[in-house]
Amino acid sequence: MKVGVLSGGGDAPGINAVIRAVVRKGIQNYGYETVGIKDGWHGLLENEFLPLDVKSASGILPRGGSILGTSRTNPFKHEKGPEKIMKNAEKAKIGAVVVIGGDDTLSIAHKMSEYGLKCVGVPKTIDNDLAGTDYTFGFNTAVAIATEALDRLHTTAETHHRVMILEVMGRYTGWIALEAGLAGGADCILIPEKPFRISEICSYVKRRQERGRNFSIIIVAEGAKPKSGKEIVYSESIDEFGHIRLGGVGYFLGKKIEKSLDIETRVVVLGHLQRGGSPTAYDRILATRFGVAAIDLVRQKKFGHMVGIRGNKIVSVPLKDVVGKRKTVDLELYDIASVFFG
Ligand code: F6P
Repeated sequence: MKVGVLSGGGDAPGINAVIRAVVRKGIQNYGYETVGIKDGWHGLLENEFLPLDVKSASGILPRGGSILGTSRTNPFKHEKGPEKIMKNAEKAKIGAVVVIGGDDTLSIAHKMSEYGLKCVGVPKTIDNDLAGTDYTFGFNTAVAIATEALDRLHTTAETHHRVMILEVMGRYTGWIALEAGLAGGADCILIPEKPFRISEICSYVKRRQERGRNFSIIIVAEGAKPKSGKEIVYSESIDEFGHIRLGGVGYFLGKKIEKSLDIETRVVVLGHLQRGGSPTAYDRILATRFGVAAIDLVRQKKFGHMVGIRGNKIVSVPLKDVVGKRKTVDLELYDIASVFFG
């Protein structure tokens, strides 16, 4: 059988480790042929493929990005998109597809399964907001990068007696902000799940000043919003899945804090540094385990399922129980983090 592999949505460190694992186990253990599908669902719409064998998939384990490219293409937004995909998969003799993606990409895998495309999913997003798995690969790397940024901001904040705000990714959930904030000792963590009040944030900064700590570190997820308002939007343009571009909450906060407290404030937007570059050892291992489990699912003909991790065990979950259900942050963990606010 020929197995196609595609990666869709925002990239996450570890995609290449998944591809390598799918190819190695698929060819060596099951005698499959493997082919890369370029740029997510776009490649199946436009017949853009990349031959994948043991040689072309070697040396990519530590590499960030995706050797297959990615896109946010939604075939259901294209004229006869799903039919084209079925026709092209058949023409290319692709018998099954390993779909590496977050909620959007996997929702297409779910819908295409209903059209008869044999798909298995691999959970990928630095946001860690996918249901059905404790962790997505890429998240650990993003947390490590954001934590290092907080450590670096600490020394300069302390030296200049400033408030430093670090804006991190997290469109709908605050996993990165929460875990990096905990690890980096943030004085305040703002996440989409907990709309904020400026007065409360200022009270943390003031409390620190009263204790003789003339600097504060705040980490904020891009999707965090004030209690009385909406998310801060960078641009109104929307992608094929209807997502608007967020960004700017850090500057919004910076101005408010400076105005209320008259304390010098600086803002750093970490942006795509969180997604670029090499995966951590944890993500390499998780992505490898996911890739091996995904090709095992193909072998077992367990289509319409996604691999996941529960505790330290690799599991499989029906895609219907995953898509459209967001995994929000663990509020008990947030309570622990809030012990250290202010
Ligand atoms: O992959 C999800 C995510 O990391 C979101 O947190 C963020 O809003 C989005 O990607 C930004 O991605 P891009 O700039 O590629 O559209």
